[in-house]
Amino acid sequence: MSSKTLFQAIKEDHEEMYLYHDEYKRARQAGDVAAQARWARQLTWEVARHAVGEEIVVYPLMEKHLGEKGKQLADHDREEHQHVKEFLYQLEALKPEDEDYGRTIELVMASLHPHNDDEEIKDLPMLEAVISADASREAAQSFKKTKKLVPTRSHPSAPNQPPFETLVGLLAAPVDKVKDWFASFPTEEEMAGAKAELKHRDHDAAAGRAAATAGH
Ligand SMILES: [Fe+2]
Ligand SMILES: [Fe+2]
Repeated sequence: MSSKTLFQAIKEDHEEMYLYHDEYKRARQAGDVAAQARWARQLTWEVARHAVGEEIVVYPLMEKHLGEKGKQLADHDREEHQHVKEFLYQLEALKPEDEDYGRTIELVMASLHPHNDDEEIKDLPMLEAVISADASREAAQSFKKTKKLVPTRSHPSAPNQPPFETLVGLLAAPVDKVKDWFASFPTEEEMAGAKAELKHRDHDAAAGRAAATAGH
């Protein structure tokens, strides 16, 4: 199991958002609209996947382990996510070259910064203090799992399509539905077991073909 705590996993994600935002600003300064579009896409999907991951894994843990205070913090966080989502919806209707697009990206980040800081300064330290180190690492794994499975872009023709193909679809999907969808995949432990077996696999295509031919 990875040794990352939930706090570390979340903080790393926050840093990733800031990095993509910086790349976006750099592209904007350079007047490179194509690069702006790419970084904006990377940033907005990262923000969306992060928000969904927290809503599925982190906030329920706060509610479970921090009593009434946890419920309040989680409600407050979800409300702040809602503001960010509304900006993301607006972005979907704009083009990266629009003046409003850049403004909306800045609104997204201006909402996110204090929200992320609160999670790092208040919410997560409070949660980490009342759950075991193992529980924290386990939560970090679940969080990563939810993020890995949320598409980074739409794949209209891919099999096993998630119940959302677009960023708006993902954000608009009820959390319970998204949660059920994640639960329909193997657990981290099951995947780790399968991957351990992979090391011993070496399918010999030529030998298999020869054996099949000899048999006929
Ligand atoms: Fe958050
Ligand atoms: Fe966060």
